[in-house]
Amino acid sequence: LGFDLKEYLENKRKEIDKALDSFLPEPEGLSAPLFEAMRYSVMAGGKRLRPILVLAASHAVGGSSSVSMPAACALEFIHTYSLIHDDLPAMDDDDLRRGRPTCHKVFGEAMAILAGDGLLTFAFEILAREAVKERENSEKVSQVILILARAAGIKGMVVGQAVDVLMENKEVNGSQLAFIHQHKTGALIKASVEIGGLLGGADQNQLGALSSYGDGLGLAFQIVDDLLDIEGDQEVIGKPVGSDLEKNKATYPALFGIEESRAQAHEYIHSAISALASFDEKAEPLRAIANYVIQRNR
Ligand code: IPE
Ligand code: IPE
Ligand code: MG
Ligand code: MG
Ligand code: MG
Repeated sequence: LGFDLKEYLENKRKEIDKALDSFLPEPEGLSAPLFEAMRYSVMAGGKRLRPILVLAASHAVGGSSSVSMPAACALEFIHTYSLIHDDLPAMDDDDLRRGRPTCHKVFGEAMAILAGDGLLTFAFEILAREAVKERENSEKVSQVILILARAAGIKGMVVGQAVDVLMENKEVNGSQLAFIHQHKTGALIKASVEIGGLLGGADQNQLGALSSYGDGLGLAFQIVDDLLDIEGDQEVIGKPVGSDLEKNKATYPALFGIEESRAQAHEYIHSAISALASFDEKAEPLRAIANYVIQRNR
């Protein structure tokens, strides 16, 4: 019997949404507007790719999902923060996200900036709490915190976003463009897979393979995101089409054209799947997700 990815993604999404909801503080008193802004953006939905990757990578090496759920949620909180800030007028200046008006459109810029700050900090609070609470696991969770801090931070997503903004209206070459995409998007995707593997009990070889998988998947994911900005349907992607062209962003289709970009994305997906050659059927979700990333329309 073939693996049913659609059903898998739906089930995981439900589990993750439930966990996200229970982690997020309830809006009350003076804190209400801030907590509401955080909830608004997180609970708007989204594909939940990064937390699903944490769970799928853990599963691939025989781990359970209960151990990795807090880390899965931490990844989604950091990702959502990156979206809130990415949409701000000072950055991509977009009005639509996850099918709703962007956070700053509803709550104002100050609250959107702070909701992002809140989600970023909260992600590390959740993980640090795990490290303190789960004594026998605290060594592993410390490693998770290090991987996540690096991937989200100044040598990961943050520098990718900085170079992305700096390169608006500029000519970039292929290696500069790969730098942007690997950092702004690839880093968190790769970290999701590594963190899932680590928590699931991967050995060094398995971790290396998962990192390679994450490299290919992360870059392909952003190339497809660039393509959807041109060819996507706004109703389906839940964010504006043509945003990159409008800001003259450095993208794969802008540098290589649509056909060549798609071909490159296919190659990266191929290499991601190849990296899992030594894994058994427990890696089927990871393989199916890789194929989905190239075919997705949202
Ligand atoms: C959008 O990420 C921003 C990128 C890093 C490309 P997703 O396409 O995963 O967005 P959601 O989480 O599904 O909304
Ligand atoms: C954003 O890349 C990557 C992030 C770190 C959020 P984009 O700016 O292309 O993402 P979208 O298209 O707005 O989701
Ligand atoms: Mg951007
Ligand atoms: Mg954007
Ligand atoms: Mg985009």
